[in-house]
Amino acid sequence: MEYRVGMQDLSWWKRAVIYQVYPRSFQDSNGDGIGDLEGIRARLDYFVDLGVDAIWISPIYPSPMADFGYDVADYCGIDPIFGTMEDFDHLLEKAHQRGLRLILDFVPNHTSDQHPWFVASRSSRDNPKRNWYRWRDQPNNWQSHFGGSAWEFDGETGQYYLHEFLKEQPDLNWRNPAVKAAMFDALRFWLRKGVDGFRVDVMWLMIKDDQFRDNPPNPAYEAGQSTRNKFLPVYDADRPEVHEVVAEMRGVLEEFGDRVLIGEIYLPIERLMHYYGRELRGANLPFNFQLLQCPWTADDLARTIDEYLSALPAGSWPNWVLGNHDKSRIASRIGLNMARAAALLLFSLPGTLTIYYGEELGMQDVPIPPDEAHDPAEKRQPGIGMGRDPERTPMPWDPSPLCGFTDGLPWLPIGEANRAVNVEFSRKDPHSMLSLYRHLLQLRHAEPALVSGRLSELKAGNRVIQFVRSDARKAFGIVVNLSEELRRVAVKAGSIAACTDLHRVGELVSDGVNLAPAEAMIIEVRDAATNVVIV
Ligand code: NOJ
Repeated sequence: MEYRVGMQDLSWWKRAVIYQVYPRSFQDSNGDGIGDLEGIRARLDYFVDLGVDAIWISPIYPSPMADFGYDVADYCGIDPIFGTMEDFDHLLEKAHQRGLRLILDFVPNHTSDQHPWFVASRSSRDNPKRNWYRWRDQPNNWQSHFGGSAWEFDGETGQYYLHEFLKEQPDLNWRNPAVKAAMFDALRFWLRKGVDGFRVDVMWLMIKDDQFRDNPPNPAYEAGQSTRNKFLPVYDADRPEVHEVVAEMRGVLEEFGDRVLIGEIYLPIERLMHYYGRELRGANLPFNFQLLQCPWTADDLARTIDEYLSALPAGSWPNWVLGNHDKSRIASRIGLNMARAAALLLFSLPGTLTIYYGEELGMQDVPIPPDEAHDPAEKRQPGIGMGRDPERTPMPWDPSPLCGFTDGLPWLPIGEANRAVNVEFSRKDPHSMLSLYRHLLQLRHAEPALVSGRLSELKAGNRVIQFVRSDARKAFGIVVNLSEELRRVAVKAGSIAACTDLHRVGELVSDGVNLAPAEAMIIEVRDAATNVVIV
């Protein structure tokens, strides 16, 4: 099977490697132990040196921080923890001067309960903002993503309001045109400043059933899981009307030219594809979380890549990620060594890539004792593995005690394993994970075949995955050894363009090549179709 990604006109975001910054943890500039905008600005040259094209910053808006910024109290401001609007303007200007794009997080499903809209809404049943949120006389069985009922009783007005996440995060009513208008104006506020796009939080949840029907029970629910899993999310997620909202959102971005709309969507592949929209008038990039969820075996990976690429609507653009601020880090999920192979695999796939801060160092999850947990997802449902603090720990910049992240007390511990892979050290080590990422980024930018060329010959066998990427000019064979044993792969002639073992770059290959356990390589080959054979 051959998947033609297509040499479409390549907008900047199609060629881009996006770097996700979790702002609390990237770089502190004022000694409060929490990262900020001035810290990010001070590190702009790091992104340039690494070779990424765009940065996406998780929410920086004024917020009581019940969910660390995903509870927004003002869509057009900056939280003092992160700095000022001047700091933001400065950051944007300096990023653009370096050719870096800047993408913001947009949180449309819910506001903070401190947002003036909600304060007004809850003040009385006949307040003009009452219908900006979802108020009901009786709750139904919908469950919060953080556990427990998704409805909170408000004693003052005697009704329940909906919150798909914390009770401090009431859900907006996207069926109300006034809500849409206000939220789209917030987007325009940032677009006028020049931001290059948005990552839209929980895009698939924005609209719920208009009749508030109960969700059906989930037969696969097991005791000990989040109560969210008790029911199948039929009526409070992925409703057909959501696509109209996404299309309108896309229209707002298009008022400003070539900006990117990225949707956070956790759905099976077939449902995910709907978010490209009818006639591709939806999200430019519905986030593809397949590699976050896929078991790390050659068979599973090959099947997943095949299913995803086969399902793409004509003319749509693929994308891939290995991690984000809600999931255990890739190096912890599959091990440091295998994470190198994962990086090589990622950089061999067609489309837009997003990397999570610290992946390029091989950062690992830092265990956080239960009594030191910050994350509300952990605090509401302790001990069932919902906590997200471990993957949100400070970026280690140098080997000093506080790793150059802060002069104060870091809001989360740095962790010894992460200290050891600090940027200063990793930069000096020509075989570090950082050196591998820099090499892969350079190669990807130099070789359009890897971004937009065909993907063909996808196979898994003997715990090795292989495929070919090619365009009219060049062909690359990609081989990844997912086993703990030596493997030999037949390649007639070629040279190694990238390898998890950077010593091997440039090695000539004839007849065959040996792959150490967890070794992966991109081999420039002469005749794509016949040259790479797993034996
Ligand atoms: C998804 C975000 O990625 C996560 O961090 C947040 O807690 C929820 N949405 C609620 O906004």
